[in-house]
Amino acid sequence: NWPDFITIKEVGPRDGLQNEKKFLSTEDKVTWINMLSNTGIKEIEYSSFVNPKWIPALADAKEVGKRIKRNPSVLYSALVPNMKGLENALEAGIDGASVFMSASESHNLKNINKSIDKTYPVLKEVIDTANEEGKKVTGYVSTVFDCPYEGRVSPEQVLRVCDQLLEDGVDEISLGDTIGSAVPSQVQALLDEIVTRLPKEKIIMHFHDTRGMAIANIMTSLQFGITRFDTSIGGLGGCPYAPGAAGNVATNDVLYLLNGLGIYTGIDEQKLQEASIYIQNKLGKKLPSRSVAFIEGT
Ligand code: HMG
Ligand code: MG
Repeated sequence: NWPDFITIKEVGPRDGLQNEKKFLSTEDKVTWINMLSNTGIKEIEYSSFVNPKWIPALADAKEVGKRIKRNPSVLYSALVPNMKGLENALEAGIDGASVFMSASESHNLKNINKSIDKTYPVLKEVIDTANEEGKKVTGYVSTVFDCPYEGRVSPEQVLRVCDQLLEDGVDEISLGDTIGSAVPSQVQALLDEIVTRLPKEKIIMHFHDTRGMAIANIMTSLQFGITRFDTSIGGLGGCPYAPGAAGNVATNDVLYLLNGLGIYTGIDEQKLQEASIYIQNKLGKKLPSRSVAFIEGT
């Protein structure tokens, strides 16, 4: 008994590019995001307003935001770590702001240079201001299953962070398997708890596919009635502050699965393939996506 409709958020232009050694020009990013905007994808995370010294690949976030051609049926969001990031994001144009932190102390420290407790007030100010500006606010929680520095993370730790972010006013929570290590029993254990706390429409699963478990984990999430997933075209990506982590689950592979299950996404396979080939050629390397449609075009 699957959901009828799944919403995919394409995070390729952010999560996908943030770890790339090769700097993709602003013009190429804009062209690519415009292609993605016409695939039928409903949400696109177009860049990240973090310190460009930390993430040089996305140093042109403002320029990208100003230049992309907005499709009115797409929600455009970006990653925002603090007020400085929010100011820049508002100037560039966003429909949604994504704040982010980790369930584990060490990853939070490596990734955003603060303890978990010191992160909350920083994010609270961003959440309040973004809400006042009428923007949707997503709260990303990273390392919800395992931390690259601390190992296994308990559901209790994750729930503590989720509860605080919800209390501070985020509209929805994206749960990140940052290093792509979870197996379905872990997903089940966490979702058992999470679904009692917030409506399923507000839960987003964000799987990296380091060990090829993401599709199995998505199946488990579908069984819980989860209808929203973050994916990256071609499987591009990874967090530079999570050693060994591979890209997000590929949009192409998830589409192949959902089409096969008869679940509607509104995404045009052909257009998605064209956008995949475009970015693969620009980056000059084969992307990890496994679906046939993607390989055929290369
Ligand atoms: P910090 O160094 O502690 O910040 O960094 P600070 O407030 O002390 O400021 C230091 C300098 O940074 C100052 O500049 C600020 O102006 C500048 P200076 O005076 O030295 O010249 N600065 C900024 N510049 C531009 N934009 C900003 C900004 N903020 C400060 N927004 C900070 C703290 C959070 C900014 C930093 O640690 C950072 O940028 N981290 C980003 C790390 C990152 O992007 N990681 C990847 C994304 S998260 C992810 O991939 C996981 C996810 O996909 C889910 C999952 O898979 O689990 C979401
Ligand atoms: Mg990620």
